[in-house]
Amino acid sequence: MTLNVDKHQEISGVAGDYPSCRFSVAPMLDWTDRHCRYFHRLMSEHALLYTEMVTTGAIIHGKGDFLAYNEEEHPLALQLGGSNPADLARCAQLAQERGYDEINLNVGCPSDRVQNGMFGACLMGEADLVAQCVSAMREVVDIPVTVKTRIGIDEQDSYEFLTQFISTVSEKSGCDDFTIHARKAWLKGLSPKENREIPPLDYPRVYQLKRDFPHLKMAINGGIKTFEEMDEHLKHLDGVMVGREAYQNPYMMAQVDQRLFGSTKPIIKQRELVEAMFPYIERQLANGSYLGHISRHMLGLFQGLPGARQWRRHISENAHKPGAGIEVLQQAVAKIPAELDV
Ligand SMILES: Cc1cc2nc3c(=O)[nH]c(=O)nc-3n(C[C@H](O)[C@H](O)[C@H](O)COP(=O)(O)O)c2cc1C
Repeated sequence: MTLNVDKHQEISGVAGDYPSCRFSVAPMLDWTDRHCRYFHRLMSEHALLYTEMVTTGAIIHGKGDFLAYNEEEHPLALQLGGSNPADLARCAQLAQERGYDEINLNVGCPSDRVQNGMFGACLMGEADLVAQCVSAMREVVDIPVTVKTRIGIDEQDSYEFLTQFISTVSEKSGCDDFTIHARKAWLKGLSPKENREIPPLDYPRVYQLKRDFPHLKMAINGGIKTFEEMDEHLKHLDGVMVGREAYQNPYMMAQVDQRLFGSTKPIIKQRELVEAMFPYIERQLANGSYLGHISRHMLGLFQGLPGARQWRRHISENAHKPGAGIEVLQQAVAKIPAELDV
């Protein structure tokens, strides 16, 4: 989400008075890569898209370009993982130079790997350090610097702990834009996947947080699937962030502009969407990508429709073969009954 509504409106041409943070797709490691984001963008002009978490170490020391993206992906936020203020500032600066619209600090990921590097959810216990990290980034960039966090960690799960964290970070760093995953994380004993399912969701706590910090922009995340649920959350908060549902049932993205941004443009159909991907896929294949790297994000496109399983199966069995190209998708789409107007 963004702290500067006007800036995002200018970038994205958001309909009406809505900032793009009104609806975002969550950062998801291994899922929201550039191919996935390109695909999502074909369905929604206005959604704010997040990269997967990229660590400062990867950007600074890694081989390869961890900041690469397609111009079509804007508005686009880079999620950083790290806890060294100088490294984060350097990465934020590089990201701004590359044209990202927002930098987001990950204070929510509970994996062991992340805890060893002292970043992610364990940083909730280090509010001063988070404030230093955000300050260091805000000093060197003009784009919004935002924080994605949880409602608590381990036994530190009282409302007072959460408010203390938010007030320390916002007051000491000036950050005024938070996304709250409405469940706590258990740092020991639960896998990252379990940490997205087992700790209970507590939406009222996030609503209360917004009431207690009305000057801060806040988006809510966790377990959101339907537009009815989003409408309810948006009565209390500035934005909704959707993760798994947007990935596993991607065609929900096609309704986002109409349902949440007041767009009157017609909704793209599934078959059109597959075809709209072809020029992109051909460019990517010519540059050495594999079809499977792109088509894996499209598997859920026909979810709930006759032929959906055959569509998935055809792609899963063929997209990884050497030389696989768009014909695999053409064959797969032919598994959807012709009489279906989709
Ligand atoms: C496969 C996967 C990877 C994830 N990777 C990240 C990540 O890199 N950074 C992050 O902040 N959260 C990550 N998350 C958590 C999501 O951003 C989100 O907070 C969580 O899935 C809850 O939202 P949902 O119920 O809408 O999926 C990941 C979630 C999934 C399913």
